[in-house]
Amino acid sequence: MAALLHILVLFAGLLLNPSSCHDHNSHQHKALFIFGDSLFDAGNNNYINTSDRFQYNFRPYGETFFGYPTGRPSDGRLIPDFIAEYAKLPFIPPYLQPGFNNYTYGVNFASAGAGALPESFQGFVRDFKTQLSYLKNVKKQLRQKLGDGEAHELISRAVYLISIGTNDYYSPFTANSSLFQSHSHEEYVGMVVGNITNVIKEMYEIGGRKFAFANVMPLGCLPGFRILDPESIGSCQKAEVTGLANLHNKKVATVLLKLKSQLQGFEYSNADFNTYLTNRMNHPSKYGFKEGKIACCGSGPYRGIQNCAGRGGVKEYELCANVTEYVFFDNHPTERVYQQVSKLWWSKTPTVKGPHNLKALFEA
Ligand SMILES: *[C@@H]1O[C@H](CO)[C@@H](O)[C@H](O)[C@H]1NC(C)=O
Ligand SMILES: *[C@@H]1O[C@H](CO)[C@@H](O)[C@H](O)[C@H]1NC(C)=O
Ligand SMILES: *[C@@H]1O[C@H](CO)[C@@H](O)[C@H](O)[C@H]1NC(C)=O
Ligand SMILES: *[C@@H]1O[C@H](CO)[C@@H](O)[C@H](O)[C@H]1NC(C)=O
Ligand SMILES: *[C@@H]1O[C@H](CO)[C@@H](O)[C@H](O)[C@H]1NC(C)=O
Repeated sequence: MAALLHILVLFAGLLLNPSSCHDHNSHQHKALFIFGDSLFDAGNNNYINTSDRFQYNFRPYGETFFGYPTGRPSDGRLIPDFIAEYAKLPFIPPYLQPGFNNYTYGVNFASAGAGALPESFQGFVRDFKTQLSYLKNVKKQLRQKLGDGEAHELISRAVYLISIGTNDYYSPFTANSSLFQSHSHEEYVGMVVGNITNVIKEMYEIGGRKFAFANVMPLGCLPGFRILDPESIGSCQKAEVTGLANLHNKKVATVLLKLKSQLQGFEYSNADFNTYLTNRMNHPSKYGFKEGKIACCGSGPYRGIQNCAGRGGVKEYELCANVTEYVFFDNHPTERVYQQVSKLWWSKTPTVKGPHNLKALFEA
């Protein structure tokens, strides 16, 4: 009788906790593969030959949370760090970090300054297509370690978190771009979105099914853009840059809907990061901030000159007294903004028709 009870209890235990009959834990933990630009770069650029313009491994970056610079372009954690936490994953390390090669929980390929076009900040960053080639390497290694079946399962259950496009519109205004100059805006945005579409299709071919996008920021209103026009210091560089970002976001939303109808099993979440940030910038006190437009770290008007940490050759810079009050750390949002946005993205229905929030995507 006691033995039978024991067996019944064991059996009930298996029913309640089906993962206990498998020897790996992929059922609780889905891997997180991270792609894109400075919004998501957890330190890949620490390991490439670039300019300090694209590196953030200097104090005071990272100070709020880590207490030391990690390469993240903010005072603390980034969106992927919060998402990893909510998904009960550890911090996801940069792909280029020497010695890191266990991809059970995923890996971060993002590179500050990267765009969808190889021309954007060419030579200084790992562009979106290069990041895709890294994913192919990871798949190869996973197959060697886990075998085809388990590698396929890990890759198809994983979430692909992507922030790309900002630098394709940033680069033409801060560096020479004959590609931008030789095309209409419509054509140029078409090329950026076309290249993004091709990479997503390849990720799907590789086995990815669950994609999560943060759309492009209100670029013209970043502190660094507010000072570009000496005639109108402080106002957004509305017309051109903002128009490009809006057109881009509209096109990407359309493409995602189309991909969902074309590719079987394709699921996605499209967060309206642009609106989340615009709201905080324009109505800081509504979200618990005091300053929506001036950066915490940098120099000149709006601290818009991007020399936080003495980067870019000009050593003297200003740092605000209390970063919690700020929406922008430099040209990038503060950790507090990222935390608010991550919470929304995780559990609310994204404003740009997702159709999923991230929690649902992880559980799908
Ligand atoms: C790094 O880049 C600089 C400037 O572009 C170049 O002179 C140098 O040779 C590069 N170093 C390596 C190791 O590639
Ligand atoms: C990789 O990391 C996971 C999770 O920490 C662990 O279970 C697994 O044993 C590691 N694999 C190798 C080959 O070290
Ligand atoms: C753009 O190109 C011109 C001509 O090649 C050069 O004189 C100028 O310094 C370049 N500007 C930047 C920002 O690279
Ligand atoms: C991708 O970008 C290149 C420029 O790097 C462009 O020539 C090409 O047409 C783009 N591809 C698509 C599908 O738009
Ligand atoms: C910093 O600002 C936050 C938000 O306004 C406030 O709660 C906190 O007390 C401030 N910290 C210091 C040290 O003044």
